[in-house]
Amino acid sequence: MKRLNQKVTGDSSITLFSEKYQEHYHSTKGAVEESFEKFVKPCRIAELAKKGKITILDVCFGVGYNSAAAVEVALEANPDCKIKIIGLENDQKILDERKNLNPAFKYYDIIKEEKTDERIKLKILLGDARETIKQIKEKVDAVFFDPFSPKVCPELWTKEFFECVKNVMKPGAILTTYSCARVVRDNMKAVGFKVEDGPILGRRGPATIATLK
Ligand SMILES: C[S@@+](CC[C@H](N)C(=O)[O-])C[C@H]1O[C@@H](n2cnc3c(N)ncnc32)[C@H](O)[C@@H]1O
Repeated sequence: MKRLNQKVTGDSSITLFSEKYQEHYHSTKGAVEESFEKFVKPCRIAELAKKGKITILDVCFGVGYNSAAAVEVALEANPDCKIKIIGLENDQKILDERKNLNPAFKYYDIIKEEKTDERIKLKILLGDARETIKQIKEKVDAVFFDPFSPKVCPELWTKEFFECVKNVMKPGAILTTYSCARVVRDNMKAVGFKVEDGPILGRRGPATIATLK
């Protein structure tokens, strides 16, 4: 099977290129850095981990960088924390690419091999996220929202899908995404999210942090 093209990003970590979407899977300024700075930190994973138990929804799991960063931050904050991650991904090929990657995350082997133990449970729901999200029966503390851009993947940035995401979030849960596009924020607001600027990395616009009012 043909492997996806790899690119070394600004922090020396590797991203991949999607021919279908003509976009990279991560920021070319720094793939690993993006996971920590734009997704994990603004979701306050360390703070949540200190409470002992955390459930994360990783929308558009890809090769799992955001989840890997979350596990690292959570276990650093609380080595006894119980972490449950639900990943949504529709492409088995990108999940298979994990075995070709060795990013500098402490616990990437857990993400790679979907190892489950006392502390960490990872479940990936394979299929269109707009459908698989309906299988989620529990409420989550944090959401990493990481589809390709609204320009090339508009179907995941709609009011309808944000409503579904909102429905699986606990009160006070935080959603983070790299995009600050107007349409994204308008659709989030339309279904009841409060929207704030997230971190700015490099010279790009801010990320977005969405919480429930
Ligand atoms: C920007 S990449 C995500 C990168 C990922 N967060 C990571 O750390 O590797 C977007 C992902 O969305 C997936 N995707 C696209 N459309 C989807 C859909 N309708 N349902 C679920 N996943 C989808 C793609 O296969 C791709 O893996």
